[in-house]
Amino acid sequence: MNVSQAFVPVGVRILGTGSALPEARLTNHDFEKIVDTSDEWIFKRTGISERRICKGPTEGAFTLGRDALARALESAGIEGKDLDLIIVASVSSEMTCPSNACRIGHALDADGVPGFDLVAACSGFVYGMIVAESMIRSGRFRRIGVVGVDEMSRFSDYADRSLSILFGDGAGAAVLAADENPELGCQWQTMGSDGSGETHLYIPRRDQDVPDADRDNPIRLGCLRMNGREVYKFAVHKFCEVMERAFTETQLTPADVSQIICHQSNIRIIESARERFGLPAEKVYINIDRYGNMSAGSAGVCLDELWRSGKITKGMPFVLVAFGGGLTWAGAVWRV
Ligand code: COA
Repeated sequence: MNVSQAFVPVGVRILGTGSALPEARLTNHDFEKIVDTSDEWIFKRTGISERRICKGPTEGAFTLGRDALARALESAGIEGKDLDLIIVASVSSEMTCPSNACRIGHALDADGVPGFDLVAACSGFVYGMIVAESMIRSGRFRRIGVVGVDEMSRFSDYADRSLSILFGDGAGAAVLAADENPELGCQWQTMGSDGSGETHLYIPRRDQDVPDADRDNPIRLGCLRMNGREVYKFAVHKFCEVMERAFTETQLTPADVSQIICHQSNIRIIESARERFGLPAEKVYINIDRYGNMSAGSAGVCLDELWRSGKITKGMPFVLVAFGGGLTWAGAVWRV
């Protein structure tokens, strides 16, 4: 890693992508046996039919993140030791210390390569891509592996029908590399946070983490809590605001972009933004029906599926948009 290298303006290209999903499926019909719900209610209100869930002690955020990055490295045609940095965006790293970035680096023969975990909830993968892109553009890093992974089943209270039906487990990854064409990479980007909304989406570890407004509700420490209506309003508003800025500030129109990759939290949130901007359905990728909301894993898995299917057209920008706990949000217009 050439940290002392002089600043050289460079572009950034996507060298490869990968993803990893657990084998085990939890369908809406499975939920009908656990809580008072129906396949029809879940699909109509969320767009979800099934999700993938980690099973057993050997599968989790670490193994999913490791496998996603291994596949991204394979598709990039490089090895772990060729990276200058590993960034793992996640709220579910098994341990606070060591980070999953360090553990994944070791598993992929990248000992000596720096790594850190980044916590921005569902916005994590887009945050990670923007941070990595900026570091490469500085001229000081040449190749960075970015992983977005979450094991949301670990935080799901399966007695809570309004929450547990939404989430699944999965990981997506990308390998970014310096390119001599400065046009490649982020053409526009934004990241934001607003801690005043912290109690709308949070995972309390201790009693004192529970806000007064939630004290009368049954709470399991270590499980996700969500004010669904507030998060819904925030997500629709932020999604539209970020998209509006992305198009206005780049002077692009929906016809100019190949794909809009949006965090998969609820089909109705995505559809409302799609209608507002008159986006054609084939440009707004959906996989929430198969995987649910995988938090930081969602945007990365979308990117991998689109990249591998050739739907991200070279020479045309694509858009990344995400929002989530924190509250956080992020957007990028990416030239490939
Ligand atoms: N099956 C059947 N009924 C359910 C249910 C389920 N799985 N979950 C909730 N309900 C019931 C509620 O108890 C409520 O019943 P009541 O009217 O008798 O009190 C009714 O359905 C309506 O609940 P409501 O919360 O208003 O539903 P909704 O249409 O807002 O949908 C969410 C709930 C969670 C799907 C929706 O609020 C949402 O998607 N919010 C955003 C979530 C999100 O994006 N989170 C991640 C952000 S990154």
